[in-house]
Amino acid sequence: MEFFVTHQAVDHYSGDCSVAFALKDKSNDNRIIQNYLDLHRFEPKLGNTLLLGKVEGYKSKRVLVVGLGETPLTQKNFIKALKSLSSAMSTSKVKNVVIPTVEVENVDEAWIQTTAARVLKNESYKVSKVGIKEEESGIVLEAVNIFSKNNGASEIQKGVAIANGMALTRELGDLPSNICTPSYIAKKAKSLAKTHNLECEILEESDMESLGMNSLLSVSKGSLEPAKLISLSYMNAGKKAPIVLVGKGVTFDSGGISLKPGAGMDEMKYDMCGAASVLGTMSAIAEMNLKVNLTVVVPTVENMPAHNASKPGDVVKSMSGQTIEILNTDAEGRLILCDALTYCEKYKPKVVIDIATLTGAVIIALGNHHSGVMSNDQGLADALKISGESAQDTVWQLPLDEEYDDLLKSNFADMANIGGREAGTVTAACFLARYTKKYSWAHIDIAGTAWLRGSKKGATGRPVPLLTQYIMDQA
Ligand code: BES
Ligand code: MN
Ligand code: ZN
Repeated sequence: MEFFVTHQAVDHYSGDCSVAFALKDKSNDNRIIQNYLDLHRFEPKLGNTLLLGKVEGYKSKRVLVVGLGETPLTQKNFIKALKSLSSAMSTSKVKNVVIPTVEVENVDEAWIQTTAARVLKNESYKVSKVGIKEEESGIVLEAVNIFSKNNGASEIQKGVAIANGMALTRELGDLPSNICTPSYIAKKAKSLAKTHNLECEILEESDMESLGMNSLLSVSKGSLEPAKLISLSYMNAGKKAPIVLVGKGVTFDSGGISLKPGAGMDEMKYDMCGAASVLGTMSAIAEMNLKVNLTVVVPTVENMPAHNASKPGDVVKSMSGQTIEILNTDAEGRLILCDALTYCEKYKPKVVIDIATLTGAVIIALGNHHSGVMSNDQGLADALKISGESAQDTVWQLPLDEEYDDLLKSNFADMANIGGREAGTVTAACFLARYTKKYSWAHIDIAGTAWLRGSKKGATGRPVPLLTQYIMDQA
């Protein structure tokens, strides 16, 4: 599926299909199309579609009408309309298409082009079944032409790069944990480094031992899969301090000795979606050839129960020197992140953002709509909120007051790894905040947004759009 920009009016397009947008309280500028809409009693409700054959005045074989609902058209509704367009095109086996421009509230044409390319490409992502090579992808769409008055192809290429990053994130997320192990993620990172000429460093357990990363290692102890600490660097802005992204990479979270209940445990293969999202973001940024310095750090482990696994009550010393009483082996994400966050100091970062499927509590607080964000720098939190809005991959801020941090007190170590039932998302972030005092830091909890449950079960590719947008906004 390829994307092109076109400056030619859409009715001049002589391919398979032209799209015509229809707004609720506005009759179509094209009289002939409007007649068809009246004839078919078509209601231009958001997401309604109507496929017409040859229409007078249009050179294409068919015209696909897409309802946009009420004016003004919001960013959110434009994206919903693109999703309906995508599904209508696949039902009608559209081979190539031209999409006109339309006015969207608060944004320019560049946003429309990037978003259209990103959403349409991402919608064409197909979940692959393990071990089955699909003969037919089922996707017929070969070429998407997006009309623009002003811009060139680069806006569209950005959207494609983001969708490609999301596809990498989704593939890694959807893979089962017997394939997607820490070693597998390290292999993927190496191949990403090769493709984009990135610096790549992979620390083995022995390296981590020398660095004193006993907190991270305490999680992987009970697993036969060796832990890895992966770093990739993309340096395309001289000596500027890098943006550092850290992604939680627990390839399976059984809970360890604090074993999880059976129902839905399979979903814990998604506990590496933070890791997958920072790799996807790196792929998007490198593909865009953006003028920034970006480093991604991925601590990756498998959390299993075993005779040699960590036990509730065990105390470990983290790389920072602070000691931790492991009261619950299922609060393992923070145990691997804290050492990775200390390790990040060596990059002298401009900011560090960690992305993690860290708490079930964030699903209770925010559901599947916003990711949770917490930060020790209000400016950074605000920047992430704005980039999230613009990418329509949003975050909602939760507090980090010291009253919450008090809940981590331990009689036997500097801190416990859990705070109790209340404010679970915030106490998890308070734990991380103890390791990020030396730099500007934000934490994004994606437990509610990284994958969908139910019949549409699968990784979403979030928050790649948010992270990529944030980095683009800094460049
Ligand atoms: N990976 C889980 C968080 C999670 C749970 C994500 C369910 C998505 C769905 C994390 O490691 C975890 O187990 N957290 C515990 C923390 C608790 C023991 C303090 C949780 O949220 O229950
Ligand atoms: Mn856990
Ligand atoms: Zn986990």
